[in-house]
Amino acid sequence: MIPVTPLANEKPSALATDISERLNAAIREHLLSAFAPDSTKTLRSFSAPEAADLLGVSGQFMRKLHAEGTIPEPEDVRGGRRYYTAQEIWDAREILEKSSRKKGRYLPRRSGDEKLQVWQLMNFKGGSSKSTTSIHLAHYFALRGYRVLVVDLDPQGSLTSMCGISPEIEFDGLTVYDAIRYDEPVSMADVVVPTYFPGLSIAPARLLLSEFETESAVHSNPDQPFFTRIRNALSQVEDEFDLVLMDSPPQLGFLTIAGMAAASSLIVPLTPSMLDVSSTAQFLELAGAYMGVIEDAGATLQYDHFKFLITRDEPTDVPSQQLTSFMRALFQDRVMSATAVKSTAIGDATMLKQSIYEVVRSEMTRATYDRAKGSMDAVGHEVEAMIHQSWRRK
Ligand SMILES: Nc1ncnc2c1ncn2[C@@H]1O[C@H](COP(=O)(O)OP(=O)(O)OP(=O)(O)O)[C@@H](O)[C@H]1O
Ligand SMILES: [Mg+2]
Repeated sequence: MIPVTPLANEKPSALATDISERLNAAIREHLLSAFAPDSTKTLRSFSAPEAADLLGVSGQFMRKLHAEGTIPEPEDVRGGRRYYTAQEIWDAREILEKSSRKKGRYLPRRSGDEKLQVWQLMNFKGGSSKSTTSIHLAHYFALRGYRVLVVDLDPQGSLTSMCGISPEIEFDGLTVYDAIRYDEPVSMADVVVPTYFPGLSIAPARLLLSEFETESAVHSNPDQPFFTRIRNALSQVEDEFDLVLMDSPPQLGFLTIAGMAAASSLIVPLTPSMLDVSSTAQFLELAGAYMGVIEDAGATLQYDHFKFLITRDEPTDVPSQQLTSFMRALFQDRVMSATAVKSTAIGDATMLKQSIYEVVRSEMTRATYDRAKGSMDAVGHEVEAMIHQSWRRK
């Protein structure tokens, strides 16, 4: 326990520092006791029906592949049932792709002139599900054989902790800041680290990333202005990935705008409440003004897709459904068809820094799990279709 001593109450600066020190110590203590000594996050295994589903084949076909020895037996076989690690599913993809007549059937990575997809999730409304949507999309795509990079542009580091790195207790290590700072930036390749989730890498964030906001306000480097810096960093690791997902902080600062200048598509997650809708209108007004400024400075902004995603959707809540219908009537297909439903399954999973894809179905009420996963799958599937459209795939 931390000894309770009275808070310093003389100057606000001393008070804030005092509170922050105590909070940090408490967080460290709590997190360390919760995760130590081995705080590494691991991914669960997947049942045979789940693995077949991810590979897009039938259970019967999977059994045939095993019987013929085409794909190796998984390490974990219990009571005659097979359980696969995400890595084993990836390995099976590689094997099946080699003998598949349809290219990309099992390994859907980009090739030829298919461009890196850079999707930014942004809205300055706090709590609009930017981070939750980012991690679910990241897991959806990594499980389907895409090489995914998440870039955490939020100094709060929510996405970073969901990827198994605790910004509160691990202070060393490079962050996005190191790749985009003005003074001797390092290579983005040194910042990007693989996660415990096969196929998923992260460029992490920590509080230090907020330095970029301060520095950009005073820096004028005409050769590499602030809005080119994320784009440049991404170009250094471009060949390693198919999809980049950028989570933004709940503000329209230099980080969010530099992300916008690097993005090839945008998603604005939006919770259907009157406050959120009007705040989003203001956000887009400001974003539009900034986009104009960047364009005037000589950058070309071009988005393949620019969509709203309804998040924390409550199909039985009449006012929120009215707002959703209103948005659809006004913007038609600019609003994605799929919505992310509000679900205790998702709320509970994110409390444990997990996505619904990391939760085992039998550990939840089945109907609740199925509804949440179905909704997240539908969102992922729709984004996947848009990506294939950008790649001009049939
Ligand atoms: N579909 C959902 N169902 C239930 N709870 C959700 C859902 N989506 C998000 N939440 C919860 O809402 C809260 C805010 O979500 P999240 O952190 O993703 O928002 P954010 O836009 O990233 O917030 P910030 O602006 O602070 O970065 C979280 O506690 C999360 O667990
Ligand atoms: Mg967030």
